[in-house]
Amino acid sequence: MEQELQNLENEAKEQLAELSTVDQLEEFRIRFLGRKGHFTTAMRQLGSVAKEDRPRLGQLANRLKNEVEKLFEIKHTSLKAASQTSRQDGVMPDLTLPGRWSAPGKLHPVTQVMNEACAIFEQLGFSVAEGPDVETDHYNFEALNIPAHHPARDMHDTFYISDSILLRTHTSPMQARVMEVQQPPLRLIAPGKVYRCDSDITHTPMFQQVEGFLVDKDVSFADLKGILTVFIRQMFEKDLSLRFRPSFFPFTEPSAEVDIACVMCDGAGCRICQKTGWLEILGSGMIDPEVFKMVGYDPEVYSGFAFGLGIERIAMLKYGIDDIRLFYENDQRFLSQF
Ligand code: DAH
Repeated sequence: MEQELQNLENEAKEQLAELSTVDQLEEFRIRFLGRKGHFTTAMRQLGSVAKEDRPRLGQLANRLKNEVEKLFEIKHTSLKAASQTSRQDGVMPDLTLPGRWSAPGKLHPVTQVMNEACAIFEQLGFSVAEGPDVETDHYNFEALNIPAHHPARDMHDTFYISDSILLRTHTSPMQARVMEVQQPPLRLIAPGKVYRCDSDITHTPMFQQVEGFLVDKDVSFADLKGILTVFIRQMFEKDLSLRFRPSFFPFTEPSAEVDIACVMCDGAGCRICQKTGWLEILGSGMIDPEVFKMVGYDPEVYSGFAFGLGIERIAMLKYGIDDIRLFYENDQRFLSQF
C-alpha cells in the first residue's frame, strides 16, 4: 500500500510536468484529485488495511495528495498567465476593449480662408498663377518701380539670401513675372507665402498673401472698387461698407488702402478698430505706367488695377482672433476649433 501511494504520487508529478494547456490541466485534476480520482480511491482502500497501519498510511496519503495539489496550483497559475500573454501578443485580441480613437485631419484655418479667397476670385473670372518664394531683387523690387535705396524698401524687412536673392516680401513680383510673358487681357490672382523679418501680435516672419491684377483696355478705378466690394462682402458674408483711403505704393498710381467697416462693432467704434469704426484690410491701386513700361506694355493702350491682401489678417477678423502667432504655434486646442 505504501509503495502504491508513492507510485501514484510519482505518476501524478510526471504527468503534471508534461501538461501544456488549461484544459489538459482540468482533465488531470479530475483524474487524480477529483471525487472519483486516484487519490480518493486509494484513501478508500485504507479501510481494508491492518488497523495498526491505518493512521500512518492515512497521514502519508494525505501528505502526498496535498503535495500534488500544491504542484497543481502552481502549474495552473503559470498556464493561465501564459495564455493571457499570448492574447496580448495579438494571438487573440480582446474584442471587448474600446477602440483607439484617432483625430481626423483638418485643413489649417489659414488654408481654409486662402481656399475661400481663391474660390471667390476664380468665380469672378480670375485664374491662379503661382511663383517662387525665393525671389530675385529684380522682381521683388526693381520691376515694381522700387529701385535700390528707394525709401519704400524700408517698409519691407527683407530676409536676404545674397545681395540679389531674397525671400519675397510680397506676392506683387508675380505681376512683373506674368506680364513679362503674357499679353493683355490678364485677370490673375497669385496666392502664396511671403516673408518679413518681423514678429509680434500682428506679424509673423512668414504669412500669406493673395495678389490680384487685371489688365485690359479701359480698366478704371471703378472696376477695382467693384471687384473688391464683391470679394469683401462674400468673404465676410455681410454687406460691409468699404472705404478707399489715398495712399502710396511705388507700383500703383493712384494708390489706395482699403478699410472695411469694423466687423466687431459694425462701425460704431470699439477696441478692435481703435474707436475709428474702420479696419484696414488691403492695399490697391491702378498699375503704375512705369511698371507697364518695364514689361513692354504700352501705357497709352492698356490700364489695369492691382491689389494685395493678407490672408491671416482676414482670418483674424473673420474669427475674432487677436494674436496672429496662434496660427503658427500648432496648438491642437486652437486649431481644432475651425
Ligand atoms: N505688395 C503690397 C504689400 O505687401 C500690397 C499691395 C499694395 C499690393 C498695393 C498691390 C497693390 O498689388 O496694388 O505691402
